[in-house]
Amino acid sequence: MNKQPIGVFDSGVGGTSIWKEIHKLLPNENFVYLADSMNAPYGPKGKEAITQLSIKNTELLLNKGCKLIVVACNTATTNAIDHLRTSYNIPFIGIEPAIKPAALQTKTNAVGILATRGTLSSSLFSQTSEKFANHINVIEQIGEGLVPLIESGKLYSKEMTGLLRQYLQPMVDNNIDYLVLGCSHYPYLIPQLKELLPEQVTIIDSGEAVARQTKAVLEQRDLLNLASETPSIQFYTNGDIEVLKLLLKKDFNVDYLNF
Ligand code: SIN
Repeated sequence: MNKQPIGVFDSGVGGTSIWKEIHKLLPNENFVYLADSMNAPYGPKGKEAITQLSIKNTELLLNKGCKLIVVACNTATTNAIDHLRTSYNIPFIGIEPAIKPAALQTKTNAVGILATRGTLSSSLFSQTSEKFANHINVIEQIGEGLVPLIESGKLYSKEMTGLLRQYLQPMVDNNIDYLVLGCSHYPYLIPQLKELLPEQVTIIDSGEAVARQTKAVLEQRDLLNLASETPSIQFYTNGDIEVLKLLLKKDFNVDYLNF
C-alpha cells in the first residue's frame, strides 16, 4: 500500500503549484497528477457539475491505485470534498483559501482575496470567513478570466496584466496588507502580482499547508513511502501537454501523458 501513488487532481495545470510543495516535502512518494484542462475553468460552474467532475477525476485516480487524493483545486474542494469523503474509503486532502492566517496577522484590518466564483460563493468559504474574518474588511474579488489565460500558457500577456490591474485596484484602495490567493492556478501569477501591489502587501497561498497536512495524514495512517527508489511521477492531461511542461520547466523528472 505505501508504494501506491498519491493522486492529485485539479481543473487543470494550476494544481502543479500545490504538487511542487508536496513533492518537496515528500520526495520519496510516487505521484499521479490529473489535469482536467478540457473542463477548465471549474470556477463558473455550479456545485453539481463540479461534484460530477470531481467524482470522474477521483475514479480515474482510484483506477491508478492511489492511496490518498489531494484535491488541488479550491473550487472542487469547497464544492465537492464533503461528497468525496463520504463516498470513498481513502483520505482526501483539500485546499482552502488561507483566510485565517491573513485575518490574524493583518495590521491594516483589510485583506484581499482573489478566488473563483465557485469558491467565493461556497458555504465552506462563507463559514470560514465568518468564523475568522468577521472583524476585518475582506475585499473579495472573482478572478474571472485568469484561469483560461493560464491554461492557454498566456501568463505574461497584455490581457493578464490588464485583468490583474483591474482586480487589484479596489484592494489597494482599501489599503490591504495581505492578499490571499484562493485558487491553485494563481501562485503562478505571484511575480506579476508583486510588481502591481505595494511592497508592504504579503501574498499568501496554501501550498505549504496542504503539503504539511498530506504528510501528517500519511503518517497517522502509516502510509508514508519509506522506499528509497527513484519515485514514479506521472502527469496526465486532457489538454495541452506543452502548458504543463511550461509550468514545470525542466526541474522535475516526470512522464507526461494524455488521457
Ligand atoms: C478553476 O478551475 O476555475 C480554478 C481552480 C481553483 O479554484 O483552484
